[in-house]
Formats: sequence, structure tokens, C-alpha cells
Amino acid sequence: MTHKPRPKGSVIAALDIGSSKVACFIARVVDDHGGYEILGVGHQAAQGIKSGTITDLNAAEAAIRHTVHAAENMAAQAMKGYPLREVVINVPGVHAHSQGLSVDVEISGQEITDNDVQRALAKAQDQSVGDDHELIHTIPVSYAIDGNQGVKEPRGMVGDRLEVDIHLVTGGHKPLRNVASCIERSHLEVSALCLSGYAAGLSSLVEDEMDLGCTVIDMGGGVTSIAIFYGGSMIYSDAIPVGGQHVTSDIARGLTTSISDAERLKVLYGSAMATAADENEMIDVPQLGEDNRTHPNHAPRSLLVGIIQPRLEEILELTRAKIQDSGLGQAAGRRVVLTGGASQLPGIRELAQSVLDKQVRLGRPIRVDNLADAVNGPAFSTTAGLLNYISERSHEMPAEIMAHVEPGNLWERISFWLRENW
Ligand SMILES: Nc1ncnc2c1ncn2[C@@H]1O[C@H](COP(=O)(O)OP(=O)(O)OP(=O)(O)O)[C@@H](O)[C@H]1O
Ligand SMILES: [Mg+2]
Repeated sequence: MTHKPRPKGSVIAALDIGSSKVACFIARVVDDHGGYEILGVGHQAAQGIKSGTITDLNAAEAAIRHTVHAAENMAAQAMKGYPLREVVINVPGVHAHSQGLSVDVEISGQEITDNDVQRALAKAQDQSVGDDHELIHTIPVSYAIDGNQGVKEPRGMVGDRLEVDIHLVTGGHKPLRNVASCIERSHLEVSALCLSGYAAGLSSLVEDEMDLGCTVIDMGGGVTSIAIFYGGSMIYSDAIPVGGQHVTSDIARGLTTSISDAERLKVLYGSAMATAADENEMIDVPQLGEDNRTHPNHAPRSLLVGIIQPRLEEILELTRAKIQDSGLGQAAGRRVVLTGGASQLPGIRELAQSVLDKQVRLGRPIRVDNLADAVNGPAFSTTAGLLNYISERSHEMPAEIMAHVEPGNLWERISFWLRENW
């Protein structure tokens, strides 16, 4: 196995730049299996970001800086006053592209080594290099030796030809460049990139789910991400630029109230599915532009739920279509895990179950201990998962793969974003 967790004692940090919030977790690796303990956390409302895209550099930079400082302050003692230098950051699925690729390398009857596997992965990276996109993940999904499919671990086996099926994730150069400038302005370096939906799955799935087949749906503020896991790897990903903020703006429009009141009504009284009792329950809806909050409109709760439900159905139907289009329905299995802040409305599990026709459970970051209550909910699945990624899966990072391959033209030819462009 190339599974090389970060060494015990290393400090790792994650920066999750979402449409609704920015969150930073700093942690220390505590064992040889990638386990970590949280040293500091920071989070605040996002600014200057819309549906995963930076729309105002200065505002986004300020939000990032404050968030990182808060986490650093909390971790200060453990970090002995050293400032944070590197972070792994999320890439929203709307800026990423998922593709399956098969490559082979000659072995000539020898025992297959890790170097052979790395050569195959590097070959795939070489084939997919382009000016307009960056490599994010190079995930070996399955192996075949001399045409024999279904090899789980080729290292140590003998053969003439090694074939590797790879899930390659690339990201748009320009949006990533904007995020990088924000981070650089905060005097931080990006140590790795990780797809938001992938990170959400890494922190919230149990091993059996990753092995047997499971689809993670991370319902964020501006983006709903899909990540399909099978055989312990992420085999497909996609995203829809719609999330909880769209639900909120539908409420604001439908009930002629402000965005902040709509958000409050959604969280307090919202539900994903209508019930008979909604008809009789009245809620107060402050009217737009009225200073005097003493005369709100009274509306039945059913009106609110009637606005929320169709939008959530739309998100879930678009998700279902993406899963169908992937052609991986079978591998994806019958299990779905919902994460993200917008997965918290009562009734969402039942609604997802009926639209997707799958077995659905609600997820949150379960693969990290001792997260404070304020940051252990589904909205922080991506943030925590970025730490799981960096502590356990560095062998899927394009830069690590390139570093493994023997020096030569390949390395020189590839304009890899971390080292060359930025
Ligand atoms: N209790 C709640 N009930 C319903 N929705 C909620 C609740 N709390 C938060 N949300 C919604 O969750 C969304 C934010 O989720 P999250 O923090 O996962 O998004 P994000 O990571 O910032 O955005 P993205 O991943 O889309 O870029 C908001 O739309 C918010 O309205
Ligand atoms: Mg998110």
C-alpha cells in the first residue's frame, strides 16, 4: 500500500471556503493511521463568495484572515506561537471536472513495485495536463495485470503489463487562481486542494459505506455536491450550483420578507415535507421595508413549507439526474448520506428517500473526536474531511505522485500548478 499517513506530531490545517461560511480547523496528527486531534477552530459567515465563486476578493480575504486568526489563537499554545503556514483548501464541485481514465505501463515480467504504480498515475496526469485546468486528485480505482481485472493490490505481484483505472479530478484554472490570491494575501500557502464533496465523504462515511458503495450529497449554501464512493475510493463526483441559499431567497420572495428574516423562518419553522398540522399553525412574517416589527403578517406554516419543499425536490431531482448520467448507479449502491448545512431541515431524509429511491441517512463529521458542539454538525463535514484527506490520502495528491516518479522529462513537462504556476 502507498498509504502513508502524515507523521505523528505534524500540524495540519484545513480551510473550507464555502458560500455561507468560512471555516478553519487546525489539528495535530496523533497516531500512525492518520488520526488527529483538533487544536483550534475558527468560523464565520462568508463574504464575497457566491455559489462557490469568489465575487469580491477583498471581502473574501478579510473573512479568510479572521477565520484563520481565530483558529490560530485557539491553537497558539500547542503551536508554540508559530504562525500557520500551510492549509489544505476545498475546491467547490462546480469548478471541477471528474473523468475516468485507463493507463498501462510495461513491467516486463518483474515484480510490480510502488514505483510502477506511480509511473502509471504520472502517465495519466501527463495525458490530462492542460492550460485551462489544474489537477486536483489522481485516484487509483482498480488494477489489472496482463488483462486480469479486479486486482486490489498489484504491488508484489508479477506481470508484463499493469493497467490502472484512475479517477482524475481537475479544476478550472481561473477560479482556483482567485482563491489562491486570497490565501496568499493572508500569508498562507496552499499545501493541497480537495474537492468539497470528497472531503465531506471522507469525514462522514464509515469504512463499509466507502467499500460497498455510497453516494454523499453535501447540501451547502450555494452548491450541492455529489461524491460516489466504491471499493474504498471516490469513483465519481459532480455538483449543482444550487443550495440552501436558494431555499432562503425563495422564502424571502414568496413571503416578501428580508433575506435574514427568511433565513430565521426557515431554520425555526421550516420543514422539507408538508404535514397536515402546518395548515393550522400560524407564523409571524416581518414585512420587507417595515421598521415596525410589531405588525408582522400572519401566515400559515404550510405556506412556508410549500415554498421550501419544491426547491428541495428540484435539488434532489437534479442530483438524481447527475447520478443517473454518471452511469454508475449500480456501483453507487442504494445508500446515500446527506451532509452540509442545508441537510438539517426536518423531513429531508424522507424527502430524499422518496426522490432518490435510496436508503438515506443524515451525516456529520464522525471520523474526528472531540469536535466542539458548534462545529460538529453536518455543515462542517467538508472542513473536517479536508483534514482526513491531508492526513490519510496524500498518495492521491498530484504533486506527491510527481515527486515519487523518477526525475526526467515528465516532471519538467508538466506545469503543475502548486510548484510551477504559483
Ligand atoms: N438548522 C438549519 N436548517 C436548515 N438549513 C440550515 C440550518 N442551518 C444552516 N442551514 C443552511 O445551510 C446552508 C449553509 O450550509 P453550509 O455551511 O454547508 O454551506 P457552505 O459550505 O458555506 O456552502 P457551499 O458548500 O455551498 O459553498 C445555508 O443555506 C443555511 O441556510
Ligand atoms: Mg460547503
